[in-house]
Amino acid sequence: MIKILHLSFILISLSSFVGRLVLSETRPELLKLKILKIAPHIIDTLLLLSGITLVIQGAWLSTEYSWIIAKITALVFYIGLGVVTMRTRGTKRWLAFAGAMACFVYIGIVAVTKDPFFFI
Ligand code: HEM
Repeated sequence: MIKILHLSFILISLSSFVGRLVLSETRPELLKLKILKIAPHIIDTLLLLSGITLVIQGAWLSTEYSWIIAKITALVFYIGLGVVTMRTRGTKRWLAFAGAMACFVYIGIVAVTKDPFFFI
């Protein structure tokens, strides 16, 4: 059940990020709406909380947890690059966006393989 919530928050978080980016390029004035400023923080907090709940539920810290450290580290980069994406324009924006997407995909693969070095 929590895993379904976790996966749903991931999809909502990604769509809200891409949606805000599209709005920023097409209708930037809409981003000033209070709901569009607050909602992403609520969604990302719920995503993090669902992840932490899964860690506790699966007692992951008492087994092999390097993949969880990798996930959280990549999440910090994902959020940071997301902030850069929304605050810049032009090439810098698209490079930051590509980096954020790479982190997102990495987090997803690490979640499934439970191996931070799956690419080696
Ligand atoms: C953008 C952020 C995140 C993405 C894309 C993501 C992705 C995923 C995916 C795809 C799964 C399902 C894996 C499977 O069923 O094989 C999963 C499960 C899980 N995630 Fe996340 N996650 C994110 C954030 C987090 C965070 C921040 C934490 C920890 C604080 C976390 C902890 C977990 C745990 C413990 C599981 C359950 C693993 C299992 O029971 O097999 N996740 N995540």
